[in-house]
Amino acid sequence: MVSIDEINSFCKRKGLVFPSSEMYGGVAGIFDYGPVGVELKNNIKKEWWNSIVHSHDNVVGMDGSILTNSKVWEASGHVDNFVDLLVECKKCGAKLRADHLIEEILKKPTEGLSSKQLDEIISKNKIRCTECKKGELSSVSEFNLMFKTNIGPSGKEFAFLRPETAQLIFTQFKNIVEVSRMKLPFGIAQIGKAFRNEISPRNFLFRMREFEQMELEFFCHPKKKDECDLFDGVKDVSVNTLTAAEQENGAHKLSKKTISELYKSKLIKSKWHAYWIASRVKWYFDLGIRQENLRIREHVSKELSHYSASTWDIEYNYEFGWKELEGIADRTDFDLQQHAKVSKKDMAIHDEATGEKVVPHVVSEPSVGVDRAFLTFIIDAYNEEEVNGEKRIFLKLNPKLAPVKAAVFPLVNKEGMDKKAEEIYKELKKHFPTFYDDSGSIGRRYRRMDEIGTPFCITIDGQTMQDSTVTLRSRDTLEQQRVKVSELVTKINKTLCA
Ligand code: GAP
Repeated sequence: MVSIDEINSFCKRKGLVFPSSEMYGGVAGIFDYGPVGVELKNNIKKEWWNSIVHSHDNVVGMDGSILTNSKVWEASGHVDNFVDLLVECKKCGAKLRADHLIEEILKKPTEGLSSKQLDEIISKNKIRCTECKKGELSSVSEFNLMFKTNIGPSGKEFAFLRPETAQLIFTQFKNIVEVSRMKLPFGIAQIGKAFRNEISPRNFLFRMREFEQMELEFFCHPKKKDECDLFDGVKDVSVNTLTAAEQENGAHKLSKKTISELYKSKLIKSKWHAYWIASRVKWYFDLGIRQENLRIREHVSKELSHYSASTWDIEYNYEFGWKELEGIADRTDFDLQQHAKVSKKDMAIHDEATGEKVVPHVVSEPSVGVDRAFLTFIIDAYNEEEVNGEKRIFLKLNPKLAPVKAAVFPLVNKEGMDKKAEEIYKELKKHFPTFYDDSGSIGRRYRRMDEIGTPFCITIDGQTMQDSTVTLRSRDTLEQQRVKVSELVTKINKTLCA
């Protein structure tokens, strides 16, 4: 598997991602997207929005603010609970995340362990600072991950930068219900920036301080979590599974299970939760993530967030192990009740079907980082092979995600081929992102496009001038077919819409 460092330098080389403010030394955990990267990132967001909002009659979107009143985060529990556990080196002063330190040194999972338990492990195993390699470590303390900033000139008012987009959905819940006349069950979705002052951002886009999230809060009547009319459409989705019981028994072997089996055996506790887990797994599979690289893992009870009754993570098998790509929690009515309590506003809504007033439950909250998904799609699509004694790197991205869909090359810049190529390029560009390249050998032009995952390359040659046909070359099979210029748009669009 390609290493995370190789992916990092590949992304920089190909204009996908750069360290932010690099000319001044950068900031750990903060990145900028380049011309190619922003296209891929936008395509990921578009596919998510289509599958969550546009494909469901009962889901609407919103776009909330980043700076938020601090009361929001008191009510949500983030002021008290949104902490990571920290140790400090008594010699060099390095601050390290206690759980990551133990995982790195002892290669043992630490999910859900308390500060006391982490302290015991550190002292029992005589773990020292990994920075200076000598220093003894302080006892474990809590570190709140929220960024705080001043509002206005007085210096007295402050706000938090949101550490998740979800709370904006809860605080606008009543307004959205009113204006969109949603009936239970329904969802509100959002894509936007989130900020966390991570103690040790690492693994490139995996753990960042500024990132984007794609989140859906799906609300339903507390007694109707099993009334899901969409379940049959996903019941046969089959995925590698690791349950809480299996983890507690020390069994870490994966087995493939269908969503239907998981729901029937009550491993996934409600039908709506099962539906959203399956839909999200299917989304990754449909966009080309290899099935063997994905699993769903149930949280063991001690690792559940303060708001969650049940959480399943979709995990990817990264170079640094199986890690969370997306979390899908049953958040119950925790957030709406908390906001009702702190704001003293009624968060209950009228349920038309039963005539009752209820505070709905978030039966499912699929939540994924755009950047983490971006990283995962690239790792999974990255391929190296030898062709005619030369290394070929190609990103086998689903054409829907590919930043550029087609590239047009004149074989030589004479005999009218360049003019014809430009004409074809201008026509294709009206339909999908297309790139024009007339510099370097054809082989090099192909390689450049392979590296950014362009599914089709079109070459205009002498024959084009005779019979209006071109060669259409496939990124994945390297096959070249002779195709009529008039058929190019239909042929390429067929792949993009598949
Ligand atoms: N609203 C629920 C929530 O925020 P979370 O598990 O803390 O839950 C959800 O975050 C997703 O956001 C994660 O699965 C991951 O994809 C992404 N994410 C979280 N922290 C991140 C970070 N520091 N850098 C990049 N992505 C992150």
